[in-house]
Amino acid sequence: MPIIAPSLLASNFLRLEDECKLLNESDADWYHLDVMDGRFVPNISYGLPVIEQLRKATTKIFDVHLMIEEPERYAEAFKKAGADRLTVHLEACPHLHRNIQQIKALGMKAGVALNPHSPVDLLCDVLQDLDSVLIMSVNPGFGGQEFIPHTYQKIRNLKRLIRDRGLNTLIEIDGGVNLDNAASLVKAGADVLVAGSTVFHSQDPKATIHILKNVD
Ligand code: DX5
Ligand code: ZN
Repeated sequence: MPIIAPSLLASNFLRLEDECKLLNESDADWYHLDVMDGRFVPNISYGLPVIEQLRKATTKIFDVHLMIEEPERYAEAFKKAGADRLTVHLEACPHLHRNIQQIKALGMKAGVALNPHSPVDLLCDVLQDLDSVLIMSVNPGFGGQEFIPHTYQKIRNLKRLIRDRGLNTLIEIDGGVNLDNAASLVKAGADVLVAGSTVFHSQDPKATIHILKNVD
């Protein structure tokens, strides 16, 4: 069964407490929290004070996806705000190895995200230090975009790298995940499915999460 990580980006910000309640009562495993700085990506979302408040509404795992430049300046603050897992972008980190060590030293699980153009091979020499790799299946910055099919090949390539090394790094897929592609993503090797609009724009988000959780 995949780990399901609904992205709050597509939720109703006017009713965040209700959205948390919904996730708490659902089969969702993680909260996926998208932080954008308007620099690394052409959009601004929400940040530390919002995550700090959300922390009071749930005991589920906070999977924070940083789409920001210089994430090392904020890692400690995100830990304090309640992040359990912190993912930084390869493309934003010239000293990626140091970023990963910092996240782990702060007591969080460390993830690296890859934009659609970045080959998974670029992670060869840090894979052994990672808890998860997030493959972007859209260009980061916005919810509700169309899934990029080449992602399947990337998942298979990454799965092979992980297996060859005897690791248990999780493969997380983010962007355009829906009820049509979820099963084939899991089959290709995805361990974690992030879903924003598919969950929050559906008639019955709890039922949608249940379907995603039970795909095979
Ligand atoms: C995009 C974010 C995603 C986004 C996914 O930059 O990283 O997590 O919320 O949204 P959907 O599932 O609507 O593509
Ligand atoms: Zn994300």
